Amino acid sequence: MEPANVIDEMIAYYRARAAEYDEWFYRQNRYDHGPEINQLWFDDVAQLEAAFSTIEPVDDALELAAGTGIWTEKLAKIAKQLTVVDASPEMIEINRGKLPNAPVCYIQANIFDWEPDRAYDLVFFSFWLSHVPPERLDAFLATVRQATRPGGRLFIIDSRFEQTGAARNNPLFEDEQTYRTRILNDGNAYQIVKIYYETEQLRKLLDKAGFDADVHFTDRYFIYASAIAR
Ligand SMILES: C[S@@+](CC[C@H](N)C(=O)[O-])C[C@H]1O[C@@H](n2cnc3c(N)ncnc32)[C@H](O)[C@@H]1O
Repeated sequence: MEPANVIDEMIAYYRARAAEYDEWFYRQNRYDHGPEINQLWFDDVAQLEAAFSTIEPVDDALELAAGTGIWTEKLAKIAKQLTVVDASPEMIEINRGKLPNAPVCYIQANIFDWEPDRAYDLVFFSFWLSHVPPERLDAFLATVRQATRPGGRLFIIDSRFEQTGAARNNPLFEDEQTYRTRILNDGNAYQIVKIYYETEQLRKLLDKAGFDADVHFTDRYFIYASAIAR
């Protein structure tokens, strides 16, 4: 069963983490696992970027849980208009700072209380699906389907497993464990949801939600899905 307040605790975790968040993606400080392992990560990022580059330019795109804007910057280049949703004002401030002149509309909202006001040509979220509690997954994917116009594209990126992906001093958990502890640079600990999907499992979930999806792993660290709404 979902622990009480886990959604609020995840929001608090990411608000507190915003200023140090990019250290994770760029393998700095506690996320620096040494040049060889870091290179495997960056090689996998290049595979994600290659897959992302196959997305056709669109008029109207939506990014959920956009964070500091690592992928928002790329989306802004292929979308004439971009709507970004995130619960953390600190994340939104950093994101906005990276895209001062882009046509981005920011919505600060808890995704589980938010409803799309229209159907977009492209819906994107990275490193978010793994944080959706199992009890909320069907409703979340129904919202995603509602946010994607028929024939529109959904693109998802996420983590594949924990080891050497998380910070060096983070307690390691079994990949099957849904609720985990995360530690920030100041030592404060938070409980979060983290679920790792297999490719076929995710393809079936997306099919059930109304998407025809291709789902792939990169060599080591990531999973991504490119899907079309029926
Ligand atoms: C792992 S980060 C992903 C950020 C970004 N997509 C990326 O790829 O770097 C998760 C993001 O979800 C946001 N978030 C957490 N809980 C949320 C919620 N309930 N509603 C909306 N955003 C939430 C956090 O503020 C954070 O920016």
